Amino acid sequence: MSNQIRRFTHFFEGMNASDGAGVRLKRYIARPGLDQVDPFILLDEFRTEKADDYIAGFPSHPHRGFETVTYMIHGRMRHRDSTGMEGLLTPGAVQWMTAGHGIIHSEMPEMESGLMWGYQLWVNLPSQLKMHAPRYQDIPPERIPETADNDTQVRVIAGSHNGTSGAAETLTNVTYLDVTINPGGHFQREEPTDHSSFLLMLDGELKDSTGKLARRGQLVVIEGEGTLDVTAGNEDARFLYFAGEPLNEPMARRGPFVMNTVDELRQAFEDYQAGRFTTT
Ligand code: FE2
Repeated sequence: MSNQIRRFTHFFEGMNASDGAGVRLKRYIARPGLDQVDPFILLDEFRTEKADDYIAGFPSHPHRGFETVTYMIHGRMRHRDSTGMEGLLTPGAVQWMTAGHGIIHSEMPEMESGLMWGYQLWVNLPSQLKMHAPRYQDIPPERIPETADNDTQVRVIAGSHNGTSGAAETLTNVTYLDVTINPGGHFQREEPTDHSSFLLMLDGELKDSTGKLARRGQLVVIEGEGTLDVTAGNEDARFLYFAGEPLNEPMARRGPFVMNTVDELRQAFEDYQAGRFTTT
């Protein structure tokens, strides 16, 4: 690890992709060039006003070995899962789902027109927690704490920021923030040196302390030591900020299963096909 100040080091545009029953999205993590930012193993953005791009949704499908985190910015999504839970994600809501040893769920838009805008993140689980009991945290917008100073507003989804603890209970050491900075304002943040961190630009522009510029639509990997200090441009800058302690474990992934070994992957497919995941 470089001993230079924490700064922007790698920039990625989202790749056009399609998932579920044909939802068009931009894939930022789990694509050529960026397989993971350990412990984050997938990040998708859906942001479209065209109903055809999202209307088919994500019908019933399984997961094992990690957590899925859905954050809605705009629009509504109905969620049902095999633990019997059901919930409606509204703008600003988060669903933090631990797939653990196996869950089957569906995620369907509850709207037929208008803007659908949100993010799905996959957080890996360490080997000893991959077979954790499935659980589901449905967090409405008003339960997500906000902290603000002069020119910056931060919604704390997970982890903590300036002494404010996030809404989600997590099994791994991760931080998930939604940050808005007024024009010219600053955001500062430290992480332990060996932790991964990156941000995803939703709107506006952001400069780090070395003068590197992040633009709307870019995922920016952050590396170095000490305090990250970023400044918004001439308009509001909004970004999602992620940080986490890397697991540093082998990963065997295929479709909806993320395990440590190929044998465990084979077992996941066998268990699913044999109906050993609870069904809805
Ligand atoms: Fe899913």
